[in-house]
Amino acid sequence: VREEQAMRRALALAGTDPGAASPNPCVGAVVLDAAGALVGEGRTAPPPGPHAEVIALAAAGAAGSGGTLVVTLEPCRHTGRTPPCTDAVIAAGVSRVVYAVADPDPVAAGGAQVLRDAGVEVAAGLLAAEAAAVHESWLFAVRRGRPFVTLKLAASLDGRAAAADGTSRWITGAAARADGHLLRAGSDAVLAGVGTVLADDPQLTARDDAGHLAGRQPLRVVLDSYRRTPPAARVLDDAARTVLLSRDDVAEEAPGRLRPADVLADLHARGVRALLVEGGPRVAGSFLAAGMVDRVVAYLAPLVLGADALGCVGPAGVATLSAAPRMRVTGLRRLDDDVRIELRAGDGG
Ligand SMILES: NC(=O)c1ccc[n+]([C@@H]2O[C@H](COP(=O)([O-])OP(=O)(O)OC[C@H]3O[C@@H](n4cnc5c(N)ncnc54)[C@H](OP(=O)(O)O)[C@@H]3O)[C@@H](O)[C@H]2O)c1
Repeated sequence: VREEQAMRRALALAGTDPGAASPNPCVGAVVLDAAGALVGEGRTAPPPGPHAEVIALAAAGAAGSGGTLVVTLEPCRHTGRTPPCTDAVIAAGVSRVVYAVADPDPVAAGGAQVLRDAGVEVAAGLLAAEAAAVHESWLFAVRRGRPFVTLKLAASLDGRAAAADGTSRWITGAAARADGHLLRAGSDAVLAGVGTVLADDPQLTARDDAGHLAGRQPLRVVLDSYRRTPPAARVLDDAARTVLLSRDDVAEEAPGRLRPADVLADLHARGVRALLVEGGPRVAGSFLAAGMVDRVVAYLAPLVLGADALGCVGPAGVATLSAAPRMRVTGLRRLDDDVRIELRAGDGG
């Protein structure tokens, strides 16, 4: 029970901002002394800072000797920007390590065996499902070699993104828009098509209710095959970094449509593990058609705009009903008058 409590604390440390150490996972760690008292804790610092285990063991000091390290992810055994965590664990003299999920990264994995070989008792799998949820984007990116993609949709009840005259601000209410800013703040990058930049001139930053910028800003990405983004566009201001991807950077699958798989490969190479695709309709359709959407967060507003209005998803390559992949509903919430539906790709991502 003490170890489970400690793991819940480690998960809370990791879960407050899972992308904080990107492109590394934001791991949580807790050290219990030999009597089971909490004597140290930590979460992975942004690169090149130390990993959670090292911070927690340093906080525990001598009290960690003979104790237990409880950690959300298997300690790494490789030298990256920091030395192997297994070295720190062995040097601290803890007698037991409990971790939730194994490290799927072939370079870093094998930490558990290194610890066992050094005489440390190792147990795996405590609260593994909870840890897999906290580290979802990072685990996905390691296994699939591309970022975890969330598609955000904000639409009328009948799935329209703008009225017939193009007006689209605001379809959803303040609470839904604030939630959208939390989605941005939790992402490594936010992506939009040049159509949205030209129509709405969005800033694509993460802001709080008062309009203040969040401390960590996602990379802003615009799909802009022919470099049509105006130099004065707000997406190019100095509030955050921006990349404009054009035909010079990524392959086209059709004129004016950069191949989503290549866009994701480019962003993965830049360290992006969690990507938020914000639209517009054409971009949403092309990512869905490519099977490159792992999660959808849809905000549905209580109004109907009708068939003469713009749909929130453009052509998505669905020719017949059975060709439309069904998703699983993984969340349902009311935000004032809007409804927030969260869905995941049917194949489990
Ligand atoms: N309610 C909402 O949530 C919401 C959100 C966003 C936008 N909107 C509305 O949507 C409208 C804009 O729609 P849109 O569909 O024209 O804009 P879009 O999807 O933002 O941009 C489409 C453009 O992006 C470029 N592009 C490059 N690679 C692409 C790819 N793989 N897939 C799709 N596009 C790619 C193409 O232009 P190039 O050929 O120049 O590269 C394409 O014409 C505006 O009226 C805006 O108000 C609503």
